[in-house]
Amino acid sequence: MTHKLLFRGGTLVTAAEMFTADVLVAGEKIVAVGRDLVAADADVVDVHGKFLLPGGIDPHVHYDLPMFDTVSSDDHYTGTKAAAFGGTTTVMDFIPQDWPTLEAAVQAWHTKAAKAAVDYGFHMNITRWDEATRAELPRLPEWGITSIKVFMAYNGRLRLQDGEIFEAMRLAREHGILTMLHAENGDVIDILVREALAAGHTEPVWHARTRPAWGAVDAVLRGAMLAAQAQAPLYIVHMNTAGGAEMLQYAREQGLPVMGETCPQYLFFTEEHLARPDGAKWICSPPMRSPEDNALLWHALEQGWMSTIGTDHCPFFFDGTKPILYEGEEIAIPGKELGKDDFTKIPNGLPGVGDRLPVLWTEGVVKGRLTPEQFVAYTSTNPAKIFGLYPRKGTLAPAADADLVVWDPDLKVTYGVAVAQHRTDYNLYEGWELTGFPVQVYLRGRLIVCEGEWLGQRGQGRFLHRGRPQIL
Ligand code: URP
Ligand code: ZN
Ligand code: ZN
Repeated sequence: MTHKLLFRGGTLVTAAEMFTADVLVAGEKIVAVGRDLVAADADVVDVHGKFLLPGGIDPHVHYDLPMFDTVSSDDHYTGTKAAAFGGTTTVMDFIPQDWPTLEAAVQAWHTKAAKAAVDYGFHMNITRWDEATRAELPRLPEWGITSIKVFMAYNGRLRLQDGEIFEAMRLAREHGILTMLHAENGDVIDILVREALAAGHTEPVWHARTRPAWGAVDAVLRGAMLAAQAQAPLYIVHMNTAGGAEMLQYAREQGLPVMGETCPQYLFFTEEHLARPDGAKWICSPPMRSPEDNALLWHALEQGWMSTIGTDHCPFFFDGTKPILYEGEEIAIPGKELGKDDFTKIPNGLPGVGDRLPVLWTEGVVKGRLTPEQFVAYTSTNPAKIFGLYPRKGTLAPAADADLVVWDPDLKVTYGVAVAQHRTDYNLYEGWELTGFPVQVYLRGRLIVCEGEWLGQRGQGRFLHRGRPQIL
């Protein structure tokens, strides 16, 4: 017999409204939402005084990503488990184009991701623009992948030229694929890095000083120009600058199908953090900027200029020579210490997938910058719509997957590495006092996190064959 759960008396939050209702789940699906539901054969979960949110959807994570001489420290199990602890039940991970064919890359990534503990989709990085890639790209939707990522930076490694990006966007659009863009100016970065190293500047802060904010502003506008010319939708990832957000909004006001994603780190931290003795902890690309950028990005969220908040979760150990205990076993993975004498050798990326919802709730909702509905829109519903998962994911409605988060708005948590479940040795939000936290997390009707206890399993996550992207 199908197992039923009746969530009684919670305050439901969707992207559109907040209301008190019961939710009936049968097996993996929500089957009814309404007042005073009756289901004699259901187990009742009393959620009076709690919020019920659709499971978070993080549109931007990197698990098991090779970088420089190491690999990001969360794999598809540890990183999805960490996501679940923070209320996120769906993630979207990027496949590097590191195999001779796209098909081989996709197959290899399926093998790695089979241990995921929450549901997952893939984006395909396009970092070679050759005849074989052009021929294979139209097959991505057949494999359930309806988004690609291209790069205007990382010269000699991942970057495509503007003309190549233009062609890729046009071809992607013809096949119902959304193009995602890493918007920085690779040429200028290259020169500034060379000059900084030649002058003996090796400290982490030079990572930010060699990646000018204006390069991101320029790249966002260039992306918009390419979208206009290709008549193709564009999603600009990890937006970090005020000027970039203004360019995004300018493009949107012209009617262009351009969408933006920002990440929590760009709302809270600045170049000053990179200047600290432990500044390597904050190294990611694009870098943290200024308090004015933080403020404008909040404004962009309040005003709806942005479409999503992802994390760009890509953690490394701060000191990968010292093991941590993970599930009772010691593990150490080379990390930020690789660049102690040269900032260009510090692996780029930060932990964040589990931090996103709790940190944004306190800083966004509790502090009155975001409504609960905006919180759900940015962290769940909009990613589901944009990446072809809606209404299966991203909402609380009959026929949706029963990915539910029971959120205690009164729970106070002193956050940090001991609470977050990422497989790394530090957390950017160490010591932050949070109000509001997920107390139960359900993946397709199954309780996987209960009051800080892990009830989930390696491999229980499912690959999501995604549909056509929507433009928001
Ligand atoms: O520093 C970062 N963001 N690492 C991941 C790669 C990317 O560009 O998203
Ligand atoms: Zn990027
Ligand atoms: Zn990324």
